Amino acid sequence: MGATSLRAPRAALLVAASLLVAACVGDTGAADVAVTRFAYVYAPSAHPDEPIQPLPVGYEANADLVRLGDQLFHDKGLSGDGTVACASCHSVPDGGDDGLGRSTGIRGQKGGINAPTVLNSGLNMAQFWNGRAETLEEQAKGPVEHPKEMGGSWDAVVARVAADPGYAGAFDALFPDGVTADNIRAAIATFERTLITPDSPFDRWLRGEDGALSERQLAGYQLFKAAGCVTCHQGRNVGGNMYQVFGVMGDYFEDRGGEEEADLGRVAVTHDEGDRHVFRVPSLRNVALTAPYFHDASASSLEDVVRVMATYQLGRMLDDEETALIVEFLKSLTGTIPATGGGAR
Ligand code: HEC
Ligand code: HEC
Repeated sequence: MGATSLRAPRAALLVAASLLVAACVGDTGAADVAVTRFAYVYAPSAHPDEPIQPLPVGYEANADLVRLGDQLFHDKGLSGDGTVACASCHSVPDGGDDGLGRSTGIRGQKGGINAPTVLNSGLNMAQFWNGRAETLEEQAKGPVEHPKEMGGSWDAVVARVAADPGYAGAFDALFPDGVTADNIRAAIATFERTLITPDSPFDRWLRGEDGALSERQLAGYQLFKAAGCVTCHQGRNVGGNMYQVFGVMGDYFEDRGGEEEADLGRVAVTHDEGDRHVFRVPSLRNVALTAPYFHDASASSLEDVVRVMATYQLGRMLDDEETALIVEFLKSLTGTIPATGGGAR
């Protein structure tokens, strides 16, 4: 089915979805589980032994719920003063982030950490740099009430959405309990899960198209594996499936000039000192589109990032040619960004 399922009648989608084992959804908090059921559709890999596997090529979801989530994601009315939407900091056509080292929230306030992309975020094992939200539903609670991001309240969002006949009608048609905070977050999270970017040159190569990678990209991939990058950046999302310390082979934070709050990593979640400077390994999908890099946005080019990673994560120096080859491989991870923004307001 794949992306064409978006245009299929809703009833057919629900039947199709019910035949599949849902790949990723935990307890969404939403009342009607059938409406929020979501499953990815996978194509076979021609290289099943590789440590990286292709992204899903499609998904099964309720198209009305996805459309509603798309609209809400782009709606500035979810913020305290009507100026900031999720999409303000996560612009899907631009790579799912804002291209800034520090995001700009309500009343021009600057945040404290680099905004990650929402593209392929449904494939990560947890959300945020330190993994403090387990699901996209849980993640979506945060930004609306964050004083420096959207500066609003969920009570106000529910009241506003319920007062809008277009929204209210759509929620009533999908959920027995209509507009609730959980149902709004279920819509946003379901929309986010659809933001997959298949068909990158690397995915086409994994799926068996031998000419999809240039010789230099292929050599870069071999080096990415041989150098050890793949021990952390692996799986379907080339990352997103484990926690690792930033600074395995050296004290990155001391060398940078001291530690800030955003550098704590998972210790802020687990309160276990062993988790200081431990981060969820980021996905490298579409990484060529999402500069600047690292949670502290300290690197502005992929060449810089590769050198920092080699030094602090692997304890080795890469020469300019090796660095360039790995960058070529990273560029082969840029896929096709889905069209969104339907019904934006
Ligand atoms: C003012 C900018 C801003 C706004 C508005 C914003 N975000 Fe974010 N988003 C961020 C930043 C910064 C982070 C990283 C925070 C962290 O890891 O501590 C983030 C993280 C995320 C993540 C986690 C991605 C990952 O790989 O870990 C998701 C998903 C996300 N935001 C979705 C949303 C949604 C949905 C909304 C609207 C309800 C939203 N964001 C509004 C800046 C923003
Ligand atoms: C020991 C695990 C580990 C190894 C090995 C490793 N990385 Fe990383 N990588 C990480 C972690 C953790 C981060 C997040 C650092 C941060 O910003 O807090 C990261 C971040 C990155 C980023 C930035 C992503 C972004 O969106 O900001 C890139 C690119 C990257 N790594 C590429 C590489 C390359 C290339 C290699 C091999 C030379 C490599 N990594 C080796 C764990 C690792």
